[in-house]
Amino acid sequence: MNPVLLTGATGFIGRNLQTSLLNAETGVIAVVRPSSGHPDALEPGVEKRICDLGDSRQLISAIKQSRAVIYCAGSVRGRTLDDFRPANIDGVRSVVDAINQAGHNTPLLLISSLAASRPHVSDYANSKHLGEQEVIAHATFPWTIFRPPAVYGPGDKEMLPILKLARKGLIAPPGPVDQKLSLIHVQDVASAVLAWLDQPEKCLGKTFTLDDGHEGGYNWEEIAQACKKGRHYRLNIPHWILFGAGSINLFLSRLLGYAPMMTPGKARELTQPDWLCNNTALNQATGWSPEITLEQGVDSLFRESGD
Ligand SMILES: NC(=O)c1ccc[n+]([C@@H]2O[C@H](COP(=O)([O-])OP(=O)(O)OC[C@H]3O[C@@H](n4cnc5c(N)ncnc54)[C@H](OP(=O)(O)O)[C@@H]3O)[C@@H](O)[C@H]2O)c1
Repeated sequence: MNPVLLTGATGFIGRNLQTSLLNAETGVIAVVRPSSGHPDALEPGVEKRICDLGDSRQLISAIKQSRAVIYCAGSVRGRTLDDFRPANIDGVRSVVDAINQAGHNTPLLLISSLAASRPHVSDYANSKHLGEQEVIAHATFPWTIFRPPAVYGPGDKEMLPILKLARKGLIAPPGPVDQKLSLIHVQDVASAVLAWLDQPEKCLGKTFTLDDGHEGGYNWEEIAQACKKGRHYRLNIPHWILFGAGSINLFLSRLLGYAPMMTPGKARELTQPDWLCNNTALNQATGWSPEITLEQGVDSLFRESGD
């Protein structure tokens, strides 16, 4: 069977996808940009194609050798919408155009984000929404969009510091006191991708959310308890500190020329009353169910990181 073409293979989710695909005896062609900071983050056996997402000639050639395309590249840091464009919008459009031109009806799975459901919240959220629109408006082949909520697991750098603090008995939720969040372990994202790959025809032209099955999401007390049973000292971060830190970081990033994670847009994302979703529709379409509870997920994370 032909391999799968994977973009974003060197990232947190992409690395876990590589492993799961290989374990399922599915070959992987990883499209890695020439300027990648992690060109060696590929598992043995993964075929590397050094190629910009705008390089249609190379993309078309790789797509013609692939049974499906999984688009997992993404920009999660930036000051303006333009900073998020290359991977979240323009890259999606280039890959859509390349699949159209390859003419093999190759199915595409776009890893978007739950953030795409609220494009007004931040430039990141808007870029994910606009990326989805590129697929919906221009794909002439079978496509599916996944919108995961916050993903955690081996290799993640965003959730881990919060979970580690909770493990030590301190919970410092950036959002409102009664905030509710859906979560999913990265290996469950990967198993959902495999379920899609088995029968992409069952998911044609649809957008699916996916979570770990914990109905109604988690509040911060539940997240803390999954990390360590018992009492936690709670440090509520006032929103003005988050927005202030975002504004200062935005200013410094302009001055020093780095891509910021914490911005006023990120502060708006963090302070939403909820980010909730479920996996009912995906389960009905493919039979896929998540297998890793938050308690199991953080437990294995702490064991792997020696905490
Ligand atoms: N992590 C989460 O909690 C989460 C939740 C929901 C949705 N998502 C979505 O899932 C996707 C992957 O997220 P992640 O957490 O794995 O992010 P990540 O660790 O930052 O990885 C991003 C990947 O995209 C690649 N990339 C970035 N800009 C690129 C460009 N201009 N051209 C080609 N490749 C580019 C990076 O490659 P380099 O090696 O070249 O940097 C890397 O492989 C993103 O689309 C994100 O929006 C993530």
